[in-house]
Amino acid sequence: MQLIAAVILMLCAWQPSLAATFHSDGVASCGACHTLHNLENGRPVNPAPDNNYLLVMNSASDLCLSCHSNSLGAVWSDSPMHPAPEFGAGNFVFIGAPNMNDAPDGLTVPLSGSHGVHNCVAPSQNALQDPVHASSSRRQLPSAELRCTSCHDPHGNQNFRMLRGAGPLPGTNYMFVEEAPLAQGLTLNGLPESRSQHTAYQAGWTSWCANCHGLYHDEGSVGFEHPVDETLPNEVVTSYGLYDGSGNPTGGNPLLSYLPQVPYEDMSMTTVSTIGPTAASRIMCMSCHRAHGSSAVDLGRWDFRTVNIRMDGFQSGSYPLPNPYGSGTIERQLCVKCHERDTRTHGFSQACIECHRYDTALTKVPSEVIKRRP
Ligand code: HEC
Ligand code: HEC
Ligand code: HEC
Ligand code: HEC
Ligand code: HEC
Ligand code: HEC
Ligand code: HEC
Repeated sequence: MQLIAAVILMLCAWQPSLAATFHSDGVASCGACHTLHNLENGRPVNPAPDNNYLLVMNSASDLCLSCHSNSLGAVWSDSPMHPAPEFGAGNFVFIGAPNMNDAPDGLTVPLSGSHGVHNCVAPSQNALQDPVHASSSRRQLPSAELRCTSCHDPHGNQNFRMLRGAGPLPGTNYMFVEEAPLAQGLTLNGLPESRSQHTAYQAGWTSWCANCHGLYHDEGSVGFEHPVDETLPNEVVTSYGLYDGSGNPTGGNPLLSYLPQVPYEDMSMTTVSTIGPTAASRIMCMSCHRAHGSSAVDLGRWDFRTVNIRMDGFQSGSYPLPNPYGSGTIERQLCVKCHERDTRTHGFSQACIECHRYDTALTKVPSEVIKRRP
């Protein structure tokens, strides 16, 4: 650590003047984040346990949040009942929700906001590590080490949103093996997400999440088993293109059918495209999840636990995620966007995952409705 401190001091003394954006392409002003003061023998006088890098704040996440909680994306604002406008990643502010379980057992088994977000350890927000999961599933990054810089490189890079690519995670023994995903994003001081303005996911999203989670849900998974990285078959392409809400399930215009709540990845995607998928489009982790968090259990882009999405928040009292087809309509789970034909005849009285998941211990679901793949 002594050595790293010395390197930081040395590098900070050499400051190229770059007229670039704040994080720039690698070299923002070091002094905005690293302190050169309060040092004794090259160490901060009162370093917090988490702060081994001469940071100006007690932890990496607190440092990022000093600029990004209420502005520049507003990723931890305003309150769990009034989230800041959406720019793609979802919001960490939902960690403060007392309950977000809108399943039938929602009142007897309350699930707090920690179930809806990636819990970044940030003392300034009283945010601790996830109380339930000791680590990420499958590849096991310890939850105590999850912070903004687990996913973003504070020093900037050429990747979308400065996401980390393959390589070691500083301060841990952990290694990313997959490259950063390809995408284009909204301008942080511009207009928020809408049907004609959204993150354009292009490639590599499933493998990027797999850096910490492996191919979660893939064949053989306990719980909800589902493809996570494959091209969309014709039936799904058609369903997506024509589905325009429960009021117009097969008559929509494929040129206007893109829904940011149910995205897919495609190399031809742009932030303003409204067109639906083609045979080259792929399902990915982000088709169903937000990256930071949401007002639904498991960072869902919609609430996976209600029969109808307008029941989101009804029982738990948490923030209801907006119904993309208008609050007046009764929409089932947005899985229907891709599976309209298969769900014409079933799935009207329970949330999809009440039947479409299984548990080796057979404790969660009755065996007769368990769907296993051959
Ligand atoms: C936006 C805030 C920010 C800026 C600006 C910044 N750093 Fe850092 N730096 C961090 C954080 C946070 C860490 C702790 C490691 C981590 O969490 O990734 C760190 C770690 C380091 C490390 C040790 C670990 C590593 O990643 O190699 C060095 C060396 C370093 N910084 C040098 C610099 C220099 C030199 C500059 C200016 C050219 C600079 N930093 C600018 C936030 C910043
Ligand atoms: C001193 C204020 C400040 C701090 C501290 C800061 N940022 Fe930023 N950040 C900015 C500004 C300004 C922008 C927009 C301009 C730019 O892209 O450089 C930005 C942009 C970003 C973006 C979007 C980049 C893009 O290309 O779309 C991400 C992601 C981000 N910051 C993450 C972080 C993380 C993670 C940390 C903590 C390590 C952090 N920031 C610390 C000021 C800050
Ligand atoms: C699990 C990985 C992960 C962690 C942890 C994480 N981010 Fe992000 N962040 C992402 C991804 C992925 C995106 C792009 C999401 C999209 O557009 O769908 C993103 C987007 C952003 C943006 C752009 C605005 C937006 O809402 O899309 C900002 C700013 C940002 N992150 C800051 C932060 C800060 C600050 C923290 C810590 C409090 C943090 N991130 C922690 C993965 C992460
Ligand atoms: C840097 C490692 C890392 C990356 C990358 C990452 N995660 Fe996680 N994720 C974790 C950890 C650690 C946990 C457990 C702690 C927690 O839930 O906050 C977790 C938990 C989760 C949970 C369960 C949340 C809960 O509390 O029940 C979901 C869902 C999830 N991640 C989805 C994703 C998706 C989708 C991506 C890709 C955008 C992703 N993760 C990328 C580390 C990561
Ligand atoms: C088709 C939609 C869909 C896709 C694609 C998807 N997920 Fe999920 N995910 C879900 C649903 C639904 C649940 C809740 C399952 C349950 O309650 O059994 C969930 C739950 C999770 C959990 C939480 C498990 C727990 O016990 O807390 C993690 C972690 C997770 N997903 C990660 C991922 C990752 C990583 C990817 C990409 C490799 C991914 N998901 C792709 C729908 C999806
Ligand atoms: C972005 C489109 C998309 C979304 C959203 C989506 N799926 Fe799928 N689903 C697919 C694709 C693609 C397949 C693979 C179909 C194939 O190969 O014929 C699939 C397959 C399935 C299967 C059959 C599994 C098997 O054995 O092949 C079930 C059941 C299913 N999905 C349920 C769901 C549920 C429940 C949700 C919501 C939580 C959901 N899907 C969301 C695209 C989607
Ligand atoms: C009451 C339990 C139940 C509910 C709720 C339910 N399903 Fe099903 N689903 C089934 C059963 C049983 C099958 C037939 C399985 C088979 O034939 O292998 C099936 C078949 C499917 C298939 C075709 C799978 C294949 O292999 O071709 C899809 C896709 C599907 N369901 C999606 C959904 C979606 C999306 C929802 C939520 C809107 C949903 N289901 C709700 C029990 C249910």
